[in-house]
Amino acid sequence: MRMSYGRMFSDRLDGHHGLPRERLDQLAQRFPEVQSEIRRRRAGGEYGFYDLVDQGSTVTQITEFAEGLGQAFDHVLVLGIGGSALGARTLLEALRPRGWNELDDEAREFYPRLTVLDNVDPDTVASALQRIDPRRVLVNVVSKSGGTAETMAQYLVVRAWLEETLGDAAYRHLVFTTDAESGALRRIATDEGIPTLAIPAKVGGRFSVLSPVGLLPAALVGIDPTALLEGAERAVKRAESDDLLSNPSALYAALLWAADHDLGARIHVVMPYADRLRWFTEWFRQLWAESLGKRLDRAGRDVWTGPTPLGAVGATDQHSQIQLFMEGPFDKVVSFLVVERSEADVPIPALPGIPSELDYLSGHTLGQLLAAECRATQAALAEAGRMSLAIHLPELSPVVVGELLMFYQLATGYAGVWYGVNPFDQPGVELGKKLTFGAMGRAGYEPVRDDAIPPGDEV
Ligand code: PA5
Repeated sequence: MRMSYGRMFSDRLDGHHGLPRERLDQLAQRFPEVQSEIRRRRAGGEYGFYDLVDQGSTVTQITEFAEGLGQAFDHVLVLGIGGSALGARTLLEALRPRGWNELDDEAREFYPRLTVLDNVDPDTVASALQRIDPRRVLVNVVSKSGGTAETMAQYLVVRAWLEETLGDAAYRHLVFTTDAESGALRRIATDEGIPTLAIPAKVGGRFSVLSPVGLLPAALVGIDPTALLEGAERAVKRAESDDLLSNPSALYAALLWAADHDLGARIHVVMPYADRLRWFTEWFRQLWAESLGKRLDRAGRDVWTGPTPLGAVGATDQHSQIQLFMEGPFDKVVSFLVVERSEADVPIPALPGIPSELDYLSGHTLGQLLAAECRATQAALAEAGRMSLAIHLPELSPVVVGELLMFYQLATGYAGVWYGVNPFDQPGVELGKKLTFGAMGRAGYEPVRDDAIPPGDEV
């Protein structure tokens, strides 16, 4: 993986917009302080996701499970939400052939199909349960706390659905990924002898894709967990440097923070030119938003801060959001994700009798067209004085995707220091949770008052 970041600076844009080149020196001078804060916090038990690169026995456990019991099923159903669901979906989309669930057994090399239910929309849940055969499914319930309302509701629905067909044998179709000690899921597992994998105590939901949360579903569909961690380790190694210019994830965080802090560019767009990374943008949005959007800084002062993450996909979004990125407010940084070698390519044929204005397409491939569009969009944004970076991925392999995921987690950790906030909590979601409990009649929680939603004007 390499990162090109020159187009963050005014001398590479229109001379007017972008960061002044001297800003890089200032950031580099301040960086050792940032790095030592991270080291101090790691020693104090924060930033636990760094240690995920060292999970030898967990990987063995996951691999044994996937190659043993996991083989008995032809569908894996993951139940979870937020950080407990987005990682599995991201890995499936990035690393397995497109349309995985529509492929026949042979094309899937006899690995199971994978469905991730990351919501409680009854339409989605009902149709998934209609499609899946309960006799052939392994249900992986994923919740760090073991008590999230949405995931527990999904679990109750799915458990009843399993029991309808399987009776007492339903528990054999379950595996839980949860905290090692606490929570309702852990208690159910202990009571019923359901196999479990533990999420390390120091790893929070949105930083857990490279823990059993993402690794188990990945291994079940044939993605090598060791290779994912090998890539992650590469990213961690590069993050050891105290020299900002040799530490790509730290540099990424510093530049995006400076763009926001100095220039008000607080919309951070991630734009892969690869459909296989479309779900990665969803994963990134949660990671960046929930980690950095905070009312309080580390000292407890009101700061109401945080960048707004946005996803876009090239070339599709050239016909959608790019107009805004080119001519709208100067409040964005676009991070292009460029995959240099894709698995397949499709030649564009020269068909007899086609109008001559289409000649320029024939003889090329769709991959060449996509690459040309990616370069053209980078050039056009630069010409329009718009800041951007490019992260070049040699290919979409488990090693590279592991490195990419860890790169973004590391960058989020660094950004937490630049923004001065705790990237590992999410106090802002608590009030909504409490009101939901009240609305659902949970003991000890106030029901939502009629006037709790300020009345709106209607038409
Ligand atoms: O990143 C986070 O901490 C959250 O998005 C959680 O992943 C999400 O709320 C689900 O929590 P849990 O895994 O406890 O069910």
